[in-house]
Amino acid sequence: MITSTVLNSFKGVPVLVTGSTGFKGSWLCTWLTEIGAQVSGFALPPKPDAPLFDQLRLRDRIDQYDGDIRNYSLIKEVIEKTKPQAIIHLAAQSLVRHGYQKPKETFDTNVGGSINLLEAVRNSSDVRALVFITSDKCYKNKEWIWGYRENDELGGTDPYSASKSAAENVFEGYYQSFLKLNKNIGAVTARAGNVIGGGDLSKDRIVPDCIRALRAKTPIEVRNPVATRPWQHVLEPLSGYLTLTARIFENPDKITGPWNFGPNTENVRPVKELAEFASKIWGSGSVNVQPDHFAPHESNLLMLSSDKAKSLLAWSPLWGFERCVENTINWYQKIDNGENPLDLTRAQITSYVEDCIT
Ligand SMILES: NC(=O)c1ccc[n+]([C@@H]2O[C@H](COP(=O)([O-])OP(=O)(O)OC[C@H]3O[C@@H](n4cnc5c(N)ncnc54)[C@H](O)[C@@H]3O)[C@@H](O)[C@H]2O)c1
Repeated sequence: MITSTVLNSFKGVPVLVTGSTGFKGSWLCTWLTEIGAQVSGFALPPKPDAPLFDQLRLRDRIDQYDGDIRNYSLIKEVIEKTKPQAIIHLAAQSLVRHGYQKPKETFDTNVGGSINLLEAVRNSSDVRALVFITSDKCYKNKEWIWGYRENDELGGTDPYSASKSAAENVFEGYYQSFLKLNKNIGAVTARAGNVIGGGDLSKDRIVPDCIRALRAKTPIEVRNPVATRPWQHVLEPLSGYLTLTARIFENPDKITGPWNFGPNTENVRPVKELAEFASKIWGSGSVNVQPDHFAPHESNLLMLSSDKAKSLLAWSPLWGFERCVENTINWYQKIDNGENPLDLTRAQITSYVEDCIT
C-alpha cells in the first residue's frame, strides 16, 4: 500500500539503492525513477542469469556504480560522490542454499558489507534516511503458527539466516551508539517475506524454477511441498520501504526500530500450491513432488506480523495470493510474447499505485 503523499516526497531527491542490479533493486530503481527521484545504484554487475537490470535498461536510466560492498573505500566513495539523502540497502548474498555452499562469502557480504555501509553512513553529512533490508529469516524460527513480531527473538540456524540476524545486531549497535545521536539521520531495518514478481531468475527460488520448467515444457520439481511461505508481490515490500523513507524524512525521531512488511495470512500457502497455480496461469505444465533427502535444512513455516506497519505507517499489503501470482507469471509470459519489459514493469507499477489510490 502506498499513498500519493509518499510518492510525491521523492521528486528530485537523491536516493542510493545498494543491490540495484538484483531482483528487488531493479524493480525499486524503476519505481524511483518513475516518481522523479535522482537514483544512484551500487552493486555487483548483473549476473548473466539475472538479466532484469539490463531488461529494464537501468544502466542508461540511473547513475550506476558497479562495485563490491566488501570494499569499504568503494562504498564510502560512492556515498561521498552521489550525496544521497536516502539509502535503501538491499545488497546481499540473498540465497539460503548458496549460503550453505559459500558461508564465508555470505557472512562477508551480509554482515561485513553491511558494516561498511553503516560506517560510511555514520560519516556522511548528506544521508537523512537509511532503510536497511534484512529478512523474515532473521527471526529464530520456532515453527509458530502465528506471525513473528519485530520484538521476537532473532537467530538463524543456516548461514544466510544467521547473517541476516547478525546484520540486525550490527545495525542496532551502530544505531544506538552513533546514528540515534545524529538528529539529521533516521535509520530503520525492514524485514519482508518471500517475494515474487516478474524478472527474477535466481537459482533455487520457486518462481524462477517454475518459469524455467514451464518454458522448457518439463514438470516443475518441488523439493519441499509442505513448506509454507508468506508469498508477496515485490511491489508490496517496496511500497513499505518507500513509505518508511518518506516518513523518516518527515519525522526521523518517531520512525525507528525494525519493521515487518509481510502479506496477509491468506497469502501464506504451501510451495506446491504456488507451483500448481503458476502452471494454471501459464496454461500448461505439471508439478512433480521430488523430495531431496540430502537437501540442507529449510524451515517449514514462517509468517510475519505486520501490525506495527499497519498501525503506525497505515501500510498494509494490497494484492492477495491470486493477484500476486497472476501478475508474476503474466510478466514472464508477456515477455516471451514480445512485450517490452520496461513498459510491462511500468504498467504493473501503475496498476499497483492505482489500486492503492482509488
Ligand atoms: N527475494 C526475496 O524473497 C527476499 C526475501 C527476504 C529478504 N530479501 C532481501 O532483500 C534484498 C534483495 O533481495 P533480492 O531478491 O533482490 O536479491 P538478488 O540476489 O536478486 O540481488 C542481490 C543484489 O545484491 C548485490 N550484491 C550481492 N553481493 C554483493 C557484493 N559483495 N557487493 C555489492 N553488491 C552485492 C547483487 O549484485 C544484487 O544487486 C536482500 O538483502 C535479500 O536478502 C529478499
